[in-house]
Formats: sequence, C-alpha cells, structure tokens
Amino acid sequence: MKTNLDIVLGLQYGDEGKGRITEYLTDKHNYDICARFNGGPNAGHTIIKNDVKYVTHSIPSGIINPDMICYIGPGCVINLEKLKTEIKDLELNGVKNIKNRLLISDRCHVITNENIIEDENHFNSLGTTKQGIGPCYSDKYKRIGKRIKDIEIDSDLKSMIYSKTLLDKVKLLEHLRNKEINILAEGAQSHFLDINSNDYPFVTSCHTTVGSALIGLELPHTMIRDVYGVFKPYVTKVGTGEFRHELKEIEKQLEDLIVEYGMEFGATTGRRRRIGWLDLQSLKEAININGVNKLAICKIDVLVALKCFEVFLSSNKSILFTNYKSLEIVEELENLLSQTINLVSLGPESASLLERK
Ligand code: IMP
Ligand code: MG
Repeated sequence: MKTNLDIVLGLQYGDEGKGRITEYLTDKHNYDICARFNGGPNAGHTIIKNDVKYVTHSIPSGIINPDMICYIGPGCVINLEKLKTEIKDLELNGVKNIKNRLLISDRCHVITNENIIEDENHFNSLGTTKQGIGPCYSDKYKRIGKRIKDIEIDSDLKSMIYSKTLLDKVKLLEHLRNKEINILAEGAQSHFLDINSNDYPFVTSCHTTVGSALIGLELPHTMIRDVYGVFKPYVTKVGTGEFRHELKEIEKQLEDLIVEYGMEFGATTGRRRRIGWLDLQSLKEAININGVNKLAICKIDVLVALKCFEVFLSSNKSILFTNYKSLEIVEELENLLSQTINLVSLGPESASLLERK
C-alpha cells in the first residue's frame, strides 16, 4: 500500500489562505491525517465555516473536520500555554474530540518565556510576531533548547503527546484500516519568509519551502504526490523589510479598500497588512522552487469589489485590469502562468470555493 503526502504551501509572504484551502481539502478530499511541519504560534490561519470563525495557530486546520487525525511534527516549535488556549477556543466553537485526534511530537522544541521576552525586546526592527520563534529556533540549533520530552508537562496535555514518529502512526493506520493513508501537510509562513530567502533578515527562523515538509514530518520524498501552492491576486506582508510593488501613497484609497474588503489584519498580531500588487516573476519562482503542480487562488472577491488592479510582469512592466468578472481574472492569470488554477476561493466562507478541472 502506498501512503500519499500532499503539501499545502504559501507562495508569497503568508496569509494567502493556506488554512482555508487545507480545511477544504481535508473536508472534501480523501485525507486521513492533517499535519503541521514548521513554525509555531506565529502562524494564524482563519477559517469561516457555517458562519463560525475558527483561528488556528499551532494546530493543523484539518482539526475542524470531525474525523481528521492531526499531527504537529518535530519541525514545529510550540508554546504549551497557548496551545491549551487554542484547544479551548476551538472547543468553544464546537470542535469535538480534539483530545483523541491531536498528536504532538515529543521532540517539538518548547518556546520559553525567556524566548518571548528576547523576541519582544530585540527584534522590533524585523517586525516579528513576538511569539519567541527566532530565539526558540536559535536555542534548538545551538543545541541548548528544551523539547517537550525534556520538561514536565501537566496531565491534560500528556495524553496528546506522541512519542513515536508519524511513520509509525501511518503504518498502524494502514494495518488497522487495511487501506492506503493520505496525509495533507499544511505549511506556515510561506515561500518568501523562508530563512534562506533573499529577503533575509526580514524572514522567519525556519524553512518554509517544500523540503521542510519532509524534514519537519520525517517522511520520505517518495510519498509526495501533489504540492498545492496558494496565492492571492495581490500580495500582503506584515512586518518590515523591502516589499516589491507595494502600493504607493497615491494608491492609498485602493489600499484601504483591499484592507477593508480583504480583512487584511494579522490573525496573530492584529497588525494591518501591507499591500502590494501581484509580482508574476516572484510567483513563478515560488512555483518552480517548490515544484507546485496544483494552484489555489484566494480573495478573488476582493478584486471584484475593487474594480481595478495591477499585475507586474517584470520590475517595470505591468498590466492594468479594469472591468472584469472573477473567473476572467483567473483565466488571465492562468494564461500568464501557463498553469491551471485548480481551486478558486470566491469569498471567506468555506463553501465559496470552486474546484476546477
Ligand atoms: P517571526 O516568525 O515571528 O519571527 O516573524 C518574522 C517575520 O515573519 C515577520 O515579518 C512576521 O510578520 C512574519 N510572519 C511570521 N509568521 C507569519 C504568518 O503566519 N503570516 C504572515 N507573516 C508571518
Ligand atoms: Mg496568517
């Protein structure tokens, strides 16, 4: 039996809609396990389903679907207090049986209060989320970090910590269910925030590109089937650093409209996101480097409300779009990218997602 691994990655600076795409795929396609492989509570994934708004930070977005087994792999860093709050908030929103469906690697590094204080005091110039991510990963790579297995944890959490590997779990499931197992890995933080990105130091402290899914979950490359790349028809960025094609002062009105219609405020920090026009060269680079074979676009509805927008083909050549319908934008982008866009999100509700071809 063959186990399949599909990976959802962001192709920009985060907040493309990875969470809603992950939730959709785990609901409508045939997955058994949804896993996080990188980052920590710096992530904020917003999902709106049946009028309920869910926000996940460390827990895979598949948790919203009742039968999904979720796994936080050893590539992630974790804040145990925030994890408890996240579980409680999800339960208040009606998510059931989390205790029996959430597994956490006991080799995840734990974010300490010192890590958070250091992040708050010394990394303002980078505009971090102040969750202690950089200091925690630094401790890990200096080999002075604390993993979950190195500390005392309370009995509540104890039942969720998984001491074996995901591969063991997969083998067990294959055996019990006598069928192939499908895993969906949900990325966090996206392509241009990878620690190797050209935007260094205005990046996060871990890897975010396709290889990080294998490393962060300890799975073999032979399992990879599809790589979903998620993007928006405009770009947003929180935090500081250079930002190509950021809207200019004279485009302030358009920028305000995108922020308003797109609700472009950070799910973790509440910060207003910076807005830029889509940069096709960067998008193609991200598609190529990650071997993306399925594309998903979100927030098309925001541009429909806007009535005009730009797409940059190169550093100084752009196309101005006016008078268009949502699917015309999608078709035009498919032509420019020479690639099918398989999933199109036309609104914030989980149900307003169109699957094509
Ligand atoms: P850190 O990951 O908190 O250290 O922040 C480093 C940079 O990555 C900052 O510019 C953050 O705004 C950005 N960042 C980290 N996580 C996310 C995310 O989930 N979405 C968008 N930006 C993020
Ligand atoms: Mg986010």
